[in-house]
Amino acid sequence: MSFQTSFCFISLFLSVFPSFTSPTLLFQGFNWESSNHPGGWYNSLKNSVSDIAAAGITHVWLPPPSQSVSPQGYMPGRLYDLNASKYESQGELKSLIEAFHQKGVKCVADIVINHRTAERKDGRGIWCVFEGGTPDGRLDWGPSFICRDDAPYADGNGSPDTGMDFQPAPDIDHLNPRVQKELSDWMNWLKSEIGFNGWRFDFVKGYAPTMTKIYMENTSPDFAVGEKWDDLSLGQGGQDSHRYALKDWVTAAGGAVTAFDFTTKGVLQAAVQGELWRLRDSNRKPPGLIGILPQYAVTFIDNHDTGSTQNYWPFPSDKVMQGYAYILTHPGIPSIFYDHFFNWGLKEEIKKLVAVRNRNGISSTSTVNILAADSDLYVAAIDEKMMVKIGTRWDLGNLIPSNFQLATSGNNYAVWEKN
Ligand SMILES: *[C@@H]1O[C@H](CO)[C@@H](O)[C@H](O)[C@H]1NC(C)=O
Repeated sequence: MSFQTSFCFISLFLSVFPSFTSPTLLFQGFNWESSNHPGGWYNSLKNSVSDIAAAGITHVWLPPPSQSVSPQGYMPGRLYDLNASKYESQGELKSLIEAFHQKGVKCVADIVINHRTAERKDGRGIWCVFEGGTPDGRLDWGPSFICRDDAPYADGNGSPDTGMDFQPAPDIDHLNPRVQKELSDWMNWLKSEIGFNGWRFDFVKGYAPTMTKIYMENTSPDFAVGEKWDDLSLGQGGQDSHRYALKDWVTAAGGAVTAFDFTTKGVLQAAVQGELWRLRDSNRKPPGLIGILPQYAVTFIDNHDTGSTQNYWPFPSDKVMQGYAYILTHPGIPSIFYDHFFNWGLKEEIKKLVAVRNRNGISSTSTVNILAADSDLYVAAIDEKMMVKIGTRWDLGNLIPSNFQLATSGNNYAVWEKN
């Protein structure tokens, strides 16, 4: 690439990417068992609205709202039918969202559109008759809306899938203009009728990022994040390819949608087990997506899949607060998991970290100066205003200047701020 082309590319890149400087703080407002909650999850969460708002959270991610074959909502069928949700009814969801809005907190819908479960079999006995859940036939689809290479649903005759196959349900043909139009209409209805402000896109590997770009453009969310979860192999090469794949996805999806920083999650949960040297990459920067594209990196410790009762890739449970000490002091858009905040009794410790972050104006693009990254000690200065220490070593030598005072601390972590 010549100097001129690379220069053009860089300036195009910068102009396409707006800067998110508002201190967005996401909260995942459910876990894998929430759909079983007696009395309904929406009603239950409503009792926590004040607590969530008081912690400085700006956006709450709610579970997939539509009728679904699986109780958690990730096998949706009748997208407009929010009354058959196991989290309770449309009316209760609207009232929960209103309660959040009254406290200035925005709500993010979990958008599951890679696949869709059919409502009935057709005349040949094949599950391929979709119904949207509206009397006027919106989202009433048949085999031509299913990807033609969707193996177990061999009657699909739409376009080939633009992403990975999802085995348990038919993969939808997102190249079909009616699919694009009717899914965008549904998302806009979630905004205008139900009150949602943004999106968490489920399993974005299932379709091309150019499809995400279309849904972003058609629905203009206040905030959006994609779940691109790739296997991570630790080590410089593995980590780098993992985070550059996230960056490439963000770019291809149009530069308006953020991505969960699975790289930071994986490296951090290895690092806190006596390998804190992992937290400094070969450029002396953080090793995750926050080290290369922080304004598009949504950092997290666990979610309904990695933790909760599924526990597919859990953070070491006794080191969760060290994880929060890292993500709540570092750049990126941090998120907090319901279970840690409410069920694990970490609410007050997490709130103190958020308060220090906000008091010092730490943003998604704050700068990190890594001062130590050994097996038992990590120390970094953020924006030269705040310092964080993680690890078992307590002799910090002269790393913390005398004009910094302790702001909060806990088991094997401490945070200082400038006087
Ligand atoms: C769900 O319930 C609400 C309120 O009772 C109603 O307005 C709406 O039409 C119902 N939706 C469906 C798909 O039945």
